[in-house]
Amino acid sequence: MPQIIGVPKETAVGEKRVATVPEVVEKLIKLGFKVMVQSGAGDAANCSDDTYRAAGAEIAATAAQLWSGSDILFKVGVPTAEEVGLLREGGTLIGFIWPAQNPELMQQLAAKKATVLAIDSLPRTLSRAQKMDALTSQAGVAGYRAVIEAANAFGRFFNGQITAAGKVPPAKVFIAGAGVAGLAAIGTAAGLGAIVRANDTRAEVADQVVSLGGEFVKVDYEEEGSGGGGYAKVMSEGFQKAQREMYAKQAKEVDIIITTALIPGKPAPRLITAEMVQSMKPGSVIVDMAAERGGNCELTEAGKTVVKHGVTIVGYTDLNSRLAKQSSTLYATNLFRLTEELCKTKDGVINVNMEDDAIRGLTVVKEGGITWPPPALKPAAAPPAAAAKPAVAPPKSHGHGGGGAPASGKATAITFLIAAILFWFVGAYAPPAFLGHFTVFVLACFVGYMVVWNVTPALHTPLMSVTNAISSIIAIGALVQVAPPLESVAGRPGGWILGLAVFSIVLTTINMFGGFAVTRRMLEMFRK
Ligand code: NAI
Repeated sequence: MPQIIGVPKETAVGEKRVATVPEVVEKLIKLGFKVMVQSGAGDAANCSDDTYRAAGAEIAATAAQLWSGSDILFKVGVPTAEEVGLLREGGTLIGFIWPAQNPELMQQLAAKKATVLAIDSLPRTLSRAQKMDALTSQAGVAGYRAVIEAANAFGRFFNGQITAAGKVPPAKVFIAGAGVAGLAAIGTAAGLGAIVRANDTRAEVADQVVSLGGEFVKVDYEEEGSGGGGYAKVMSEGFQKAQREMYAKQAKEVDIIITTALIPGKPAPRLITAEMVQSMKPGSVIVDMAAERGGNCELTEAGKTVVKHGVTIVGYTDLNSRLAKQSSTLYATNLFRLTEELCKTKDGVINVNMEDDAIRGLTVVKEGGITWPPPALKPAAAPPAAAAKPAVAPPKSHGHGGGGAPASGKATAITFLIAAILFWFVGAYAPPAFLGHFTVFVLACFVGYMVVWNVTPALHTPLMSVTNAISSIIAIGALVQVAPPLESVAGRPGGWILGLAVFSIVLTTINMFGGFAVTRRMLEMFRK
């Protein structure tokens, strides 16, 4: 018997997202499930009842019908006590739960003998879990929207322009905290043409900031800010003082500040003081993404836009609902990927396999027993920070399979030893002329490797075309054939050789000039 997945209308005030969208309904049906959607559930996310129906879902008229008729509930917002009351005894619930903050809810769910998978408890450090990481997908959308809100409140262009009516300088944007939301904000603001700077207590994100078009501004104080798992820790008093000085300087210089700083389980760090706001230029904008957790700025009012000292401070806590269709689609895909993991047999019946690390981490209540917190994960082979942040910031890779962790000292020594032995063999047995060419060849490989591997991956394509152009050096061979030294006129090549040499000169000329022209055009695309 296939199980029924139910999608209720969200009840939280201002929540416009919905837990699945029609495109994903089709995929769930292909996995063998039946899907039931409460009438009007997707209205605010531009998904009408008709589109769900067309995708194969059944529409339930009321919340009571939906909850009582479903085996598995897909939700976005934390369920209310009333909703838990509607849940079928022994039913399964998948959505945001935040078990640490909601102990009472956990008890209510356990009393219902429910099985609950909290999408917020996904072990984010498992690279296999990235496709189910709703915190990442939602923070990415929110980071983008934060920049759009800033642009809306800001009275100027983001990009610099030279027009007949005068010169417009580009806007300067400072992003505090370069996690998922921060990196999305950096990419968006840089895409709009602003000069973007960012700071984070975790030094490891500096490369990601740069690869998205931002400049990483360091705090003048040596302290590692990583608290493990891709998250930050609370910094020392000395660091905080140095950081405040740097932020105060930035506040005077920039037009827009977007704050995203967060430490799990702690109130949001206070980074922007009232004096800093006062020192900003009139018309500047602050978007405080941490508003719900107390705010990174002292003057933020959660859920509101206020103007203080001539600076607009945006404290919206519903950035995802402001892009409801996009947020819902990504969230629905995360839940679909999770469903695939739960139903490997594709027969429309889930199996909550507690042996699987990802599923174990997510499962906070199993058939009425509270299973949260999960046991600590075995240390992962991959660095956790990189695993937690892929959606917006691909870890810096240096090409095809070349960008992994640096080889250990021992492995490098062995490689060099083998290479030295091979070289000795070549030297001992090969003719002297070969040895000369071989040495040049090995050195060329080495220099080529060092040059190419130190170039930013984004510039590899222009590098290829310029290499192509330079390779036209082979034209020299053809030129030598066309014009042999004067004293050996007798050795002038025959008609065929001459013809081929001229032909190759023409081809290499196209290669050479074409290569440089393409490189120039490509590099133009990277110039602001
Ligand atoms: P995240 O944990 O990936 O990133 C937070 C970043 O702040 C980390 O990189 C961390 O190292 C950094 N950080 C912590 N303390 C810092 C300090 N003192 N100085 C500088 N950097 C510091 O979190 P994510 O997912 O990017 O979310 C960011 C914020 O946005 C959170 O507060 C989250 O609750 C909020 N959010 C708000 C939404 C809204 O509608 N307003 C929607 C989605 C997320």
